[in-house]
Amino acid sequence: MKQETVELIYEICKELNIKIEELSYGWIYKLTKDGKIRYIGRKSFDINNVESSIIASDKYATYEVLKSQNIPIIEHKIIFDPEKRKDYMSKKEIIDIISSEFMKNGKIVVKPNTGETGKDVFRCCSIKEIEKIVKELLKNNSSISICPYYDIKNEYRVFYLRGEVLLIYKKIKPFVIGDGKSSLKELVSKLNLPKNDVVEENLSKLDLNYIPENKEKIELSWKHNLSGGATPKIIEKNDKVYKEVERLAIKAGKTLNMIFATVDIIETDKDSFYVLEINSGVGATLFSKLAPNGKKIVKDIYKKALENLFE
Ligand SMILES: Nc1ncnc2c1ncn2[C@@H]1O[C@H](COP(=O)(O)OP(=O)(O)O)[C@@H](O)[C@H]1O
Ligand SMILES: [Mg+2]
Repeated sequence: MKQETVELIYEICKELNIKIEELSYGWIYKLTKDGKIRYIGRKSFDINNVESSIIASDKYATYEVLKSQNIPIIEHKIIFDPEKRKDYMSKKEIIDIISSEFMKNGKIVVKPNTGETGKDVFRCCSIKEIEKIVKELLKNNSSISICPYYDIKNEYRVFYLRGEVLLIYKKIKPFVIGDGKSSLKELVSKLNLPKNDVVEENLSKLDLNYIPENKEKIELSWKHNLSGGATPKIIEKNDKVYKEVERLAIKAGKTLNMIFATVDIIETDKDSFYVLEINSGVGATLFSKLAPNGKKIVKDIYKKALENLFE
């Protein structure tokens, strides 16, 4: 857990009369109340079933589970390492999957099957490019997900606890607006982007010396991860998409038997909603920093989750 999150958990434990002890160099926290002991880990509270967490951390498994119960989720195909998992898939089958998916869609997203924070998620526009990325990703991952590229109009993150939605925010992709004088580099430097690989990778794809025209809008990434510089905008309950996003998140959460999770949902240019992924570790460090009143909102969510943990 990030230091800020740890501090928040300590504050909540104090308010709820929970004794908290750090174990294993901060890898685990032991929580004790009324003779009951619970553990929280790196990013997850000891609250979801093991198998539900395993499914959620696996993009392709999530796809199959939700699809089998008719929950709209973006299409996925999986590719297994042809050396380590040769019982599942030969090299020839991998090439067939790549070319048939490419023929169907033209633009393909390739990502580690168990990845997070947008790291190593690539958009490819040719079979050659897909093959190159797949080969590269197979060095560090034993399976890779392939999805058609969707034109995402909006992307939402939903905080889900026991069949209820606690918060929905929209992720606004990072962008700058030109003034006709400043270079992209200068405009980007004013954004206060997080310092990490994902941001660096996004920026490496841009010509930072380019001087955008006055009022020209330049998006810095096609991905919506806060870790890549996107910003959160809270969706109020009376917003017209709230009910729709809420309904789909609850269906998805229940289908996976999740107790505490985040559900990412996309809205396409055709006004359709699909689940993108589910996370059983509910991280909210960037949200709490970036959203107005973010820290208080996250504290309330974690407080409810911790109360649930001891029920
Ligand atoms: N098939 C897709 N079509 C369009 N955009 C996508 C697709 N898959 C992922 N993205 C974009 O990339 C981001 C990261 O992908 P995601 O599957 O959530 O991986 P991670 O677990 O690393 O966050 C998403 O938030 C979304 O904006
Ligand atoms: Mg994601």
